[in-house]
Amino acid sequence: MCGIVGYVGKRRVVPIIIEGLKRLEYRGYDSAGLVYIEAGQVRKHRCKGKLANLEELMDSVVTDSHIGLGHTRWATHGAPSEANAHPHSDCTGELVIVHNGIIENYHSLREELQAKGHDFTSATDTEVLAHLIEEALDGDLVAAVRQAVTRVEGSYALGVMWAGQPDRLVAVRHQSPLVLGIKEDSGCFMASDIPALLPYTNQVVFLEDQEMALLKQDGWQVMRVDSGQPVAKEVRRIDWNAGMAEKAGYRHFMLKEIYEQPQAILNTFRGRFDPETGRVLLPEIGLAVSELARIKRVSLVACGTSWHAALVAKYWIEKWAAIPVEVDIASEFRYRRLLLDPEVLVVPISQSGETADTLAGMRLARSLGAKVVAVCNVVGSTVTREADGTIYTHAGPEIGVASTKAFTSQLVALFLLTLYLAQAREVISEGESVALVNVLLTLPAILEQEMPRIQQEMDVIAEEFSRCRDFLYLGRGANFPIALEGALKLKEISYIHAEGYAAGELKHGPIALIDREMPVLALAPRDAVYRKLVSNVEEVRARNGRIILIGSQGDDSLARIGERVVLLPEIHEDLNPILYTIPLQLLAYQIANLRGCDVDQPRNLAKSVTVE
Ligand code: AGP
Repeated sequence: MCGIVGYVGKRRVVPIIIEGLKRLEYRGYDSAGLVYIEAGQVRKHRCKGKLANLEELMDSVVTDSHIGLGHTRWATHGAPSEANAHPHSDCTGELVIVHNGIIENYHSLREELQAKGHDFTSATDTEVLAHLIEEALDGDLVAAVRQAVTRVEGSYALGVMWAGQPDRLVAVRHQSPLVLGIKEDSGCFMASDIPALLPYTNQVVFLEDQEMALLKQDGWQVMRVDSGQPVAKEVRRIDWNAGMAEKAGYRHFMLKEIYEQPQAILNTFRGRFDPETGRVLLPEIGLAVSELARIKRVSLVACGTSWHAALVAKYWIEKWAAIPVEVDIASEFRYRRLLLDPEVLVVPISQSGETADTLAGMRLARSLGAKVVAVCNVVGSTVTREADGTIYTHAGPEIGVASTKAFTSQLVALFLLTLYLAQAREVISEGESVALVNVLLTLPAILEQEMPRIQQEMDVIAEEFSRCRDFLYLGRGANFPIALEGALKLKEISYIHAEGYAAGELKHGPIALIDREMPVLALAPRDAVYRKLVSNVEEVRARNGRIILIGSQGDDSLARIGERVVLLPEIHEDLNPILYTIPLQLLAYQIANLRGCDVDQPRNLAKSVTVE
């Protein structure tokens, strides 16, 4: 996700844009830019890297302009660079836009526009919008923007400005947040999020999808994109302070990112499959279908939470693509004897794309001739630059050290890779593909609906168990890695010793630990190994252990064996790992809170481990 700021009014615009972008830097920070109009001329300044670089650039610029747009970028298409930084322009350079979102059909639009003679200067999806508006421009900016966005599929929050009408900004919102700020004696603002507005006004107008706004110094108007009809909008008063607002009112970035998962999952699968045929589209992995069909083995390499994602993917790929899968912790992978060749697909999985062990493992694999396709959340990071191709998770920047939305987005990306491999090898039917992608389609709404209730129920459990010194998490099948992930979440932010175990392993040792002081949390969905899992839990109960169960809605039997039971909707069992991660994230979050721990920046940890 990216940050957008715009202003038109009586005040000097550059300081307003810089201050606003500073408050949106959590939304993306790999490049930044701004643009204003002065004496009828469009002045654009952009740079790669942190916002501080743009600030430094602007120190030497003197302007009295009162209208402009700014953007801080989280790259989705096109690596971080000055050329890919927003604002983007049309061919004339007199029309400029800033954008947050993903244009799904930008390839075809770009080809169409290039065929009409439009010159592109960036590798971004966003730039097609500037040329589309240029195509439609006939003296009226609002009309041109309305016409242009009808061609676009995907998500967009837009700020548009044109030297031909230098007294106005146009804002458009569709599946990406955009809010207006109103200050009677000063002017009108637009921003991706409230923090950017708070230094100037707490009077805001929330745009809905398919609404657009015309902003001028002396007033504003909101209208429907489709009909152009005016829409009456309420001006709301916001009583957040700036710090709270950066976290959108959440107490910590981690909780905000847990609740961003529906959007992160949607953004990660958006445009990557055809719901009618179940056909997965992953052109970005850089390997021809014929090359994929020749793959004889998959080797997944990662660290920490990303390693847990790899463990889940092993179950999926072997089940649906019928390819043997090895999973390695990267720090082990790089020091053991590797039997790799061009018929092995190595998949480094890394949220940051900078983890030293994962990078080293990938380089070693490439040196041995393996094909490398990365799964990563940061466009232009080292892993993505050195892989043959990358499947990006579009989770947006993850600020909390404990990975949440990046992890579930990795699972979505790996599930898509599973289906893509299965389809390339022609070992999955269209019916199976359609059924699976349609379960994926339902996930965002299910999570959106269920998370508040799950949080409430996990908070009660957190209250009861926050003083424990040890925890055991149990799972079977593709939920075993989720037990590992739940234990890691608890360990890394609450500092409680927690272990994840394959439930069937309990009797081979860990059962000696069972007592009233060490709660056992078991993942017990009604799946193929449900009866086995319940037997394992009975073993704990027979030894007077304290049991917490996460199971399927309607399964009333769990209350017989579990002291605390939380029930989740039943979905295709293959996708339970994504759903069953949520309660474990929320439990760890609340226990850490109750223990007064620094949830977003736990002791001894770093967000990206760039050393061995
Ligand atoms: C996740 O909660 C941890 N902070 C950590 O294990 C992390 O997953 C690991 O360091 C790998 O990071 P990466 O995904 O950026 O490579």
